[in-house]
Amino acid sequence: MDQGQLNMELAERSMGALMSVRARFAKEKPFKGLKIGLALHITKETAVLVRTLRDGGAKVALCSCNPLSTQDDVAVALASDKDVFVYGHKGESTKEYYEYLQKVLDFGPNIVIDDGCDLVTALATRERKKAAQVIGGCEETTTGVQRLRAMEKEGVLPFPMIAVNDNQTKHLMDNLYGTGQSTLDGILRATNVMIAGKTAVVAGYGSCGKGVALRLRGHGANVIVTEVDPFRALQAVMDGFRVLPMKEAAPLGDLFVTVTGNVDVLTVPVMRLMKEGAILANSGHFDCEIDVKGLRGVAKKTRAIRPFMEEFLLPSGRRIYVLAEGRLVNLAAAEGHPSEVMSLSFCGQALACEYLVKNQKTLTKKVYSLPDEMDRQIAELQLEATGFEIDTLTAKQKKYLGSWESGT
Ligand code: ADE
Repeated sequence: MDQGQLNMELAERSMGALMSVRARFAKEKPFKGLKIGLALHITKETAVLVRTLRDGGAKVALCSCNPLSTQDDVAVALASDKDVFVYGHKGESTKEYYEYLQKVLDFGPNIVIDDGCDLVTALATRERKKAAQVIGGCEETTTGVQRLRAMEKEGVLPFPMIAVNDNQTKHLMDNLYGTGQSTLDGILRATNVMIAGKTAVVAGYGSCGKGVALRLRGHGANVIVTEVDPFRALQAVMDGFRVLPMKEAAPLGDLFVTVTGNVDVLTVPVMRLMKEGAILANSGHFDCEIDVKGLRGVAKKTRAIRPFMEEFLLPSGRRIYVLAEGRLVNLAAAEGHPSEVMSLSFCGQALACEYLVKNQKTLTKKVYSLPDEMDRQIAELQLEATGFEIDTLTAKQKKYLGSWESGT
């Protein structure tokens, strides 16, 4: 059997919660007659989501949300499915990236699932006519939700959007444990460098940064955290990390990982402070955190050392290494988050699509979070699928939690 199909089957085995949603959708067909357009990383986990939506009665078109994240074997296998259209390949150019996005828009989706907000941005600007037939959409990532909230504030959001990233089962699981493991995976596959004993600088201590810092420490690195938010900085201190401004951290780091979701984190002046052999990787959604363009401009020489590892010779004679062109290292050099964690995130996506259909008459052009009960239901489905059991509150405990009279 072909590798893409085998990989999808492997993912299905670890995505029990999503598979139980698939079984229900196959009976209830909540998306009968609807088209769903997706811009997500084309991975084996995304394929499990696509087949879940398709089994729910939808026709589905998928393009990638990053030029380097497509798993070609999966894309090929998925494209042979009935009612599924796939556009993308690993290493696509920026021009191709936008052409594939356009294919999904031309498909005429009634629901969109976005990761980073490029699809919705097109529908809010140059494709406003097509937005009229969209019931609503769902956004996967912190960066995308940030863009959506900015659109909402300016009154240009074209339809209701569900911030799936707001789910506890998303940002407290996928962002933390998923990014933690897959970022290490990407760095190791790209470099095979020893982590133990190295000084690693993690820029950003949001859910993703926390996961990366935690796993780097687990591998024996001395971890420094840089932050702009005083509360997060304090959390990093309490978690036992050294917190420094980037200018002070720059000369100390052997390995730098950006996870801020912001621009200009590792700039050329900062890179000039780094030591010989420093390795730079990004796990934030867009390739704007490390100034690779600026670095290319000042470098005396560049060399591809191996896939996803490029060497830059600086005028000082020092060499620094950038992984995956400054794009998401976990999806470019590795396979993204493991299936177990994507099961939670994509359960959120699948149920959010159903929620949009069921509530289309009442939802307006706003950014919504899914109700807490649905988030809880996702966690319960995953616990059930993985065979873990929990306790239930007694009637007395429930009453106590809702009362105020009794103290010491
Ligand atoms: N984002 C991070 N990891 C992912 C994966 N494995 N599939 C789809 N999107 C992802």
